[in-house]
Amino acid sequence: MDAVSIYESQPDDKRGTPEGLLTPDHLHDARLVATSELVSSLDPISVLDVGCGYGDLADCISPAVAYTGIEQIDWIWNIARARHPKLEILKSGLDGFAQETPRRFDVVVAAGVLPTVDPADRTRFCQTLRSLAERFVVVSWLDPLHYGGRLQATSVRSLCEAFDAPVAVSPVPGDSSYLLGVVTVAR
Ligand SMILES: C[S@@+](CC[C@H](N)C(=O)[O-])C[C@H]1O[C@@H](n2cnc3c(N)ncnc32)[C@H](O)[C@@H]1O
Repeated sequence: MDAVSIYESQPDDKRGTPEGLLTPDHLHDARLVATSELVSSLDPISVLDVGCGYGDLADCISPAVAYTGIEQIDWIWNIARARHPKLEILKSGLDGFAQETPRRFDVVVAAGVLPTVDPADRTRFCQTLRSLAERFVVVSWLDPLHYGGRLQATSVRSLCEAFDAPVAVSPVPGDSSYLLGVVTVAR
């Protein structure tokens, strides 16, 4: 089963919880704290949060940052919008959004999204993230297989290749198998 089918078939009692996003509670919190601290350290003017899930990242960065989230799964997007009625959270996949928008964002974030991307699509996905960023792309991903092997593991090397750029890597505290990376976009 691919990631979209897994998300779409999540039972009602998991929807709205970290588990509904296929993420254990402790890992969701650790990823959120580490990602938001890293994003904040880049002092962004605008952030595009790709695969924003419930939009939790928006709650952890300064409200002065112009935040845009995109989310492809209906029920997840509905929860994100209900929780953040004043924010720009769009129902869209990355490809469609990139094709339609003329906008660029200071920092583009994809937190916990890479494990859901088919390895055959990884390079295109990463290059699309890069094309939308003015300065940086921030990604978080899993090193060894996680999610009971249902989603894709990603190595640092494969990410450097996919972005065609160096990836500065740091572990997410509390889970050494979960990593954060910053890609500096050269223009
Ligand atoms: C593990 S969840 C992480 C959610 C959120 N970023 C967080 O850290 O809480 C991955 C999310 O990425 C979304 N996603 C995966 N591929 C996507 C794509 N190509 N375009 C938009 N959303 C995508 C999924 O629907 C899911 O909500």
